[in-house]
Amino acid sequence: MKVAVIGSQWGDEGKGKVVDFLADGKDIVARYSGGPNAGHTIVIDGKKFILHLIPSGIFRKDTVCVMGNGMAVDPESLIKEIEDLRGEGIYVGENLLVSESAHVIMPYNRLLDSLNEKIKGSKQIGTTRKGIGPTYADKASRIGIRMGDLIREDVLKEKLEFILKIKNLLIKEFFGEKGFSFNELFEKALSWGERLKPFITNTTSYMKKAVIEGKSILYEGAQGTMLDIDHGTYPYVTSSNPTVGGIMTGLGVPPGAIDEVVAVVKAYTTRVGGGAFPTEEKGEFGCMLREKGGEYGATTGRPRRCGWLDLVVLKYAAWINGFTKIAVTKLDVLDGFEKIKVCIAYEIDGERTEEFPLNYSDLIRAKPVYLELDGWKKPVKGVRKKEDLPKEALNYVNFIADNMNAELLLVSTGANREHTVMFS
Ligand code: GDP
Ligand code: IMO
Ligand code: MG
Repeated sequence: MKVAVIGSQWGDEGKGKVVDFLADGKDIVARYSGGPNAGHTIVIDGKKFILHLIPSGIFRKDTVCVMGNGMAVDPESLIKEIEDLRGEGIYVGENLLVSESAHVIMPYNRLLDSLNEKIKGSKQIGTTRKGIGPTYADKASRIGIRMGDLIREDVLKEKLEFILKIKNLLIKEFFGEKGFSFNELFEKALSWGERLKPFITNTTSYMKKAVIEGKSILYEGAQGTMLDIDHGTYPYVTSSNPTVGGIMTGLGVPPGAIDEVVAVVKAYTTRVGGGAFPTEEKGEFGCMLREKGGEYGATTGRPRRCGWLDLVVLKYAAWINGFTKIAVTKLDVLDGFEKIKVCIAYEIDGERTEEFPLNYSDLIRAKPVYLELDGWKKPVKGVRKKEDLPKEALNYVNFIADNMNAELLLVSTGANREHTVMFS
């Protein structure tokens, strides 16, 4: 079975928890997009791990983790992640493969990410400042450095000499900042190559063989549908394709290599960074949700903006990704609420619509139309069996599944691996 696990909202839906849970017994977990802007949290026996680049299958013995060509990799952050995991006794060796075609986040791209944000002033995207935008821009401009270049000294030298001229011009002349020394950067890049050489390989050919041999595969999404550069709330998006199409371009597998597409749906909505968010609760209720849900960024520590579930978003995401199943997370955070609100439509200048507006200037005028459902009295926190879920909670998750025209796969009732109820 080859299953995709994709964020259906604005990221941080609990993909790490769901992927780690489903990875049990799987041959491969492969990431296809994004970079260290992601923060995927996994809690095993009360111990918390946050992964940024390494796929969430790394805690499963016998599972191979693949970082695909669609990713943007910061070598320093990857080396640190490998060392940190090893320090915790987690094995990282031939079970990790990094695509030679994945793009390298160079230090100048991290700096340019911050400088670009600064210049935007009040129109800031609120990026993670990990260098994502400038790195994907280099990829599209065909001046990017790829992971395989780090282990080919001649190629690296030629590419870096050329690129650094452009980057230093921009950094020094336009932004008035200190540029980068070629020698220092070249040496640094070679040392990354040396450290990461055992992992760098042709992952496209590895995935091809795995698919042909019928291996079980999980495709791990990063970010979320509404942060997709094509389908999200542009320009307040990331610079990659977290949606289903990203799997094919980001790993080099054909559409037939995806059997199921699972949506990870947080039981309410959050967003970190700038941009439209129709169901956002800016007052006391939003703060309460943030505290109850521990909604602080796993990568930047920033407080996440919080609000009610948005079915306009979820139905749109269901179409874009072709979701066949859903995994509802953080249901326990809604414990104790008398009533639960769900946005079923938007009103834009008095006109009601259930269609997600693609034009950003329409989107910011969208007012949510709510339906109220009954909350549940008995807490769901930590529940592991379907029979132990109160009927109102079951009603809520089934209502979401029906509206998304997908089957309910699982419900997560706590951050721990075991706090999971399987449905199918
Ligand atoms: P990801 O980026 O989609 O992997 O999600 P994050 O790890 O950034 O954010 C999800 C947060 O919710 C993390 O702190 C998880 O440990 C936590 N979490 C995941 N599932 C549940 C759940 O069912 N209940 C609760 N209370 N927390 C959860
Ligand atoms: P995971 O995988 C939530 C957001 C940033 C910003 C925008 C662009 O943990 O769900 P970028 O650094 O990518 O250029 O920032 O995208 N963002 C995320 N928000 N979860 C993520 O990843 C995110 N990755 C990027 O906050 O608004
Ligand atoms: Mg996250």
